Amino acid sequence: MHSFQELVKDFANKFNTSHFPAAPTTLYEPGNYFLTLGGKRIRPVMCLMGNELFDTITSDAYNVATAIELFHNFTLIHDDIMDAAPLRRGMETVHKKFGDNTAILSGDVMLIKCYDYINKINTEHLHKVLYLFNKTAREVCEGQQLDMDFEKQETVLLDDYINMIALKTSVLIAASLAIGAALGGASEGNCKHLYEFGKNLGIAFQIQDDYLDAFGNPEKFGKDVGGDIRQNKKTFLLLHALEVATEEQKKKMHYLMQENPVDKVQQMLQIFKACNVDSWANELKDKYVQTAYKHLEDIAVTSTRKKPLMELAEFLIEREH
Ligand code: IPE
Ligand code: IPE
Ligand code: MG
Ligand code: MG
Ligand code: MG
Repeated sequence: MHSFQELVKDFANKFNTSHFPAAPTTLYEPGNYFLTLGGKRIRPVMCLMGNELFDTITSDAYNVATAIELFHNFTLIHDDIMDAAPLRRGMETVHKKFGDNTAILSGDVMLIKCYDYINKINTEHLHKVLYLFNKTAREVCEGQQLDMDFEKQETVLLDDYINMIALKTSVLIAASLAIGAALGGASEGNCKHLYEFGKNLGIAFQIQDDYLDAFGNPEKFGKDVGGDIRQNKKTFLLLHALEVATEEQKKKMHYLMQENPVDKVQQMLQIFKACNVDSWANELKDKYVQTAYKHLEDIAVTSTRKKPLMELAEFLIEREH
């Protein structure tokens, strides 16, 4: 068994090679640039953890882990275009540095490369893996579209927000674990519980992401703090504030969203703080973490084997970047 930190190192050693040909550099350099900025690599590590819960780690699991990390990076390159984000991992985003068109295409080619790695796995597992992977990828697209649709809606129900973040973020985390487990020979029941563990943890992870986007330390966060507010993202912070705010505060919020004054972020943050959205965030996050842990308990393997997953869960909920 390996600890969370060991698996992060182990994956990085294998992943940090070039995944692209040399030319044309205008197409491949942006992808290399982005991949060398690092990132937490939690999804591929989850795939390895899911695998090691049931077996010693197989080469199929490494290939799928690599595919998953490439897929995730592809979604980030395109997400940063959609969100007009200037910064990621403490550096310029691909579209800022190389332009939108190149960012679109270097994301596309990264997605295609991801399928080359899936194609390497044992044919015995290929259909099943591809089925769940493609279903997940479609769901991520659905979540990303809903995220953009909600920017233009005046208000959104909390359940719709949860559904949106489950699609754009949690299903990939859930599938990373479940595919790893399936490759390790886990039963359907165990795969299901692991998937639900990941799905609930992923919801908590995105709640934390939305929290950090408003209240994070810019030095540690690596992204533009306040970006979600600028884009009128209907995060739970905004939804909850709209629910508990005074009439006057609500009027101000609508004004800020419509008129985009220069101090929009600052003013919105003041209202968020006055509405105590941060303590509410913690409660909401906790609810999903507790559900996640219940599913982890229900997986039929000895509890010592679950230790790395517990470490990972703790890291994710406490993260500052
Ligand atoms: C960012 O994911 C996108 C979200 C789903 C919030 P990560 O926070 O895992 O990004 P990196 O890969 O570590 O940069
Ligand atoms: C992104 O959600 C989810 C995907 C990339 C699919 P966000 O837009 O909140 O992610 P960040 O904050 O840019 O990393
Ligand atoms: Mg974004
Ligand atoms: Mg986004
Ligand atoms: Mg975010």
